[in-house]
Amino acid sequence: MDTFRQDLFRGKVLFCTGGRSGICYEITQTMMGLGADAAIVGRDAKGLEESANKLSKATGRKCLATPADVRDAKAVQGAVKATIEKFGRIDFVVCGAAGNFLVPISGMSENAFKTVVEIDLLGTYHTVKATLPHLRESKGAYLHIGVTLHYRGTPWQAHVSAAKAGVHALSRVIAVEEGPRGVRSNVIAPGLIGDTGGWDRLSVKDYDPSKGVPLGRIGTKMDIAQAAVFIFSPAAEYITGTEIPVDGGDHHLYRSP
Ligand code: HXC
Repeated sequence: MDTFRQDLFRGKVLFCTGGRSGICYEITQTMMGLGADAAIVGRDAKGLEESANKLSKATGRKCLATPADVRDAKAVQGAVKATIEKFGRIDFVVCGAAGNFLVPISGMSENAFKTVVEIDLLGTYHTVKATLPHLRESKGAYLHIGVTLHYRGTPWQAHVSAAKAGVHALSRVIAVEEGPRGVRSNVIAPGLIGDTGGWDRLSVKDYDPSKGVPLGRIGTKMDIAQAAVFIFSPAAEYITGTEIPVDGGDHHLYRSP
């Protein structure tokens, strides 16, 4: 990526939940490509180690695999401790670990709803609580991976819509409480992102969702990574408590039934 200075994040450390794959892997790789070191967090220890090795190899920066389930506060605290032991600081946090599956609310079990709320919302709370002292020290920034699903009533997404609406709200509170200490908090709300495992699992067959997207295409992981770089860069130093839909304008589109 040559839009940004190659050493933009030199000396900085990223802590990224959900960094093993998908959008958060791309964000991590892009930020490491601009000089950051990183710790990635996820449940699958073996997969995480493989991803960390791949990221280091691709960028020449250090990447630490810190396995943890974000639902477990103590495990997240352990991941943060390992990151501080390795790098001595945390500047940027991406709260990106998320669960999702398609199910109408009529068929959604209590445990299914609770599971997604615990991963997406409680997991974000755990991550924020564990990292905040370090972000206060570095005057760092949070980036939460939100959604546009809850801007309207998206069928089969009650659990994710409710959980992520909470994440958007949490981010705004962090922004106003921690702004005076120099900590920023923002949300990127990805639209339809085509090159992810989530897309493969969640898209509905025989339906062309790119139809009508104002910018004329489905998004890519790199679209999200570039927005993340902007949010963490000094170019966004006066931006906090906001949410940026990165969706080609899709959430503004009225689709007739
Ligand atoms: C109905 C389901 C289900 C499904 C799980 N459950 N999958 N219910 N349909 N397809 C229910 C289970 O039956 C169970 O309830 C409860 O959820 C917990 O399931 P477990 O498998 O025991 O939980 P766990 O092992 O903790 O993992 C669940 C999970 C996983 C993490 C939520 O299923 C998952 O989603 N993995 C994919 C992660 C992912 O793709 N993340 C990216 C999201 S992208 P019962 O009642 O049976 O005990 C994104 C962007 C949105 O969110 C964009 C949308 C277009």
